[in-house]
Amino acid sequence: MRLNQDKESTMSSYDLLIKNGECVLTDSQGRLRREKTNLGIKDGKILALGLAANTSAKAVLDAQHLTILPGVIDSQVHFREPGLTHKEDLYTGTLSALCGGVATIFEMPNTSPNTSTQARIDEKLNLAQSKAKSHYAFFVGATNDNPESLESIAQTKGCCGIKIFMGSSTGDLLVSEDTYLDRILKNVTRPISVHCEDEKLLIARKSIATQGALPRFHPKWRNVESALRATQRIVALAEKYRRKVHVLHIASAEEMAFLKNKKHAATVECLPQYLTLSAPECYERLGTYAQMNPPIREQHHQDALWKALREGVIDVLGSDHAPHTREEKDKPYPRSPSGLTGVQTLVPLMLNHVAQKRLSLERLVELICRNPAHIFRAKGKGQIAVGFDADFTIVDLKKQKMISNSWIRSRVGWTPYDGMTVEGWPMMTLLKGQIAMREDTLFSNVIGEAVEFY
Ligand code: DOR
Repeated sequence: MRLNQDKESTMSSYDLLIKNGECVLTDSQGRLRREKTNLGIKDGKILALGLAANTSAKAVLDAQHLTILPGVIDSQVHFREPGLTHKEDLYTGTLSALCGGVATIFEMPNTSPNTSTQARIDEKLNLAQSKAKSHYAFFVGATNDNPESLESIAQTKGCCGIKIFMGSSTGDLLVSEDTYLDRILKNVTRPISVHCEDEKLLIARKSIATQGALPRFHPKWRNVESALRATQRIVALAEKYRRKVHVLHIASAEEMAFLKNKKHAATVECLPQYLTLSAPECYERLGTYAQMNPPIREQHHQDALWKALREGVIDVLGSDHAPHTREEKDKPYPRSPSGLTGVQTLVPLMLNHVAQKRLSLERLVELICRNPAHIFRAKGKGQIAVGFDADFTIVDLKKQKMISNSWIRSRVGWTPYDGMTVEGWPMMTLLKGQIAMREDTLFSNVIGEAVEFY
């Protein structure tokens, strides 16, 4: 019996057959649709769709009652290595990603030291080779000193693009003046992600935070005007150079109204935090554990974000996973650092919004799989189609489960959603045809790889 199995397995044309699952596929018109189909995987790639359920393969995964999404890409996380590993490192961050159904992460450059040179990008890529459990890529950070070297650094395999902080946030990366921003946009063809808050306004208004001394003053200090002004400035430069920028974590109604008419110059990211929490309630309940940049704003902004999501203004949802320890978060505002965990809760939270009929599953797959792969030009990612990487996020759309601090694998061990019951849960994360996470069990033999870009 065993011999036969071995003989059969060496003759199988597939390494893995995933059968009975409902898949979210891209059809020949580029539309997303759900279809129950069996997938054949070989050498880490999707080799065939629509196979018979008894097709021979070295291994079979029965996904009955489950839904198969392309491996989710979280295109904005802060994993803190090197330098700030008491908050997170590439191992704990990517473990948290896999448990949350995220197959690939794009990591931000505000580490210590900053990731703003070729040597620093190479250093992160080396670290990730031995520590990262999910697939990964890294941003290079823009500074006033490096506009002319960004393009060549961003061509490195495993570098997903350039990050610009127009306003100060965690760390000291900052390019606040138009002269330098202009030089960056002039010199760069690779994707550029931008944190849009106007530094001059943030400095001028800082006393609102120090005098208010309560987290609910955070959106008053870092007001809509400071975000809108920066967004308008970077979009004007993108128009000048006839290119597109990717504007990160847009949180206000006014920016969405502006960006709606700027699709030729900007792709737009929003976050589950802004779609789920709102001021003043989040600050009353969570205090500094709701403090982030740009801030979570009032309900009418959240309503406008949902409208923008439905109208197609929003292209991507990222988590902006930005861990800080409880000890750091417990400092009195505004000495408390800004940032919330999120990589592990991106998928369950958004599936819950799907269950509540706020968006369709197909639209969610656009926002967290297909569009980030397309915008950052990631090879082989973001779709269930022949020739694509066999990365999958397998979910149970009906499973009800409570998000809790004890479930969070991030080193800091907390989530603003502790105690929230959601409908829809990530059951498995597959990387190149191998199960990396199954119901919170992680398989130590499976490791992530650097993403390649075209
Ligand atoms: O709240 C935030 N935290 N916003 C950012 O832009 C950075 C992040 C962090 O790295 O802590």
